[in-house]
Amino acid sequence: MKIDYVDLILIHTPRNVMGVQNYDTFEIWKGLEEAKQLGLTRSIGVSNFNSTDMARILANSTTLPAVNQIETNPTFANQELVAYCQSKSIVVMGYSSFGFLVPRPFNDLSLPPSFEDPTLVGMAEKYGVTVSQVVQRYLVDRYIIPIAGSLNKEHIQSNINIYNFSLCHEDVLIINQFDRNVKVYLIDYEGLFNYMHLAFLKLIEFVECNNLRQYELKS
Ligand SMILES: NC(=O)c1ccc[n+]([C@@H]2O[C@H](COP(=O)([O-])OP(=O)(O)OC[C@H]3O[C@@H](n4cnc5c(N)ncnc54)[C@H](OP(=O)(O)O)[C@@H]3O)[C@@H](O)[C@H]2O)c1
Repeated sequence: MKIDYVDLILIHTPRNVMGVQNYDTFEIWKGLEEAKQLGLTRSIGVSNFNSTDMARILANSTTLPAVNQIETNPTFANQELVAYCQSKSIVVMGYSSFGFLVPRPFNDLSLPPSFEDPTLVGMAEKYGVTVSQVVQRYLVDRYIIPIAGSLNKEHIQSNINIYNFSLCHEDVLIINQFDRNVKVYLIDYEGLFNYMHLAFLKLIEFVECNNLRQYELKS
């Protein structure tokens, strides 16, 4: 990357998604602590950690994770975990902040609210902003950092431009009512690992059956 340090580095998930032997999240955390001590990163944090995962780090480490990056949006308000992190002074960074307002290619569920939702449209008119800005601001007014992803210049500008207004507490509570406790990212890690393991075995079988290993050695 040709840089001397990064601002923040996260453990992406506490789950052993690749089935690594002797996997221990706490060992990874100790590695991040060392990276911080060496000045390679200014802050260290975690992602997709639940309160049990967090508690283990907090009980055994002197460094507080700066951040827990977790899914947070109107249909997955994630209130308990957000409250837990904030009670421990850990900043919550919210991914998939648009929830089901935008298409999710790997998830065909369609849950309210949409961009045309009358409640959100009414709020957007009241604050003189767009529905997308109301949805991003919903996180900010819960003291969560939204990290909307976009490849569109206008969207990026709009997503940044949310710090000149704020939702009143009642409007935050109204948006909370869209909560269905349904994640955009419904990843079954065990299933994913089994699938990858199976795919790997199939690849080996294919290589053996077609004598490709021999071909590779000869060529
Ligand atoms: N830690 C984790 O496990 C994890 C998991 C998932 C995601 N993330 C991170 O979270 C970030 C974003 O997550 P995400 O992509 O799932 O969710 P997202 O920001 O909720 O959704 C991205 C989608 O929203 C659209 N969009 C963005 N701004 C918009 C606007 N103003 N109006 C209308 N549509 C808009 C984008 O399309 P356009 O490109 O057309 O704007 C894109 O299709 C990424 O940095 C990603 O790496 C982390």
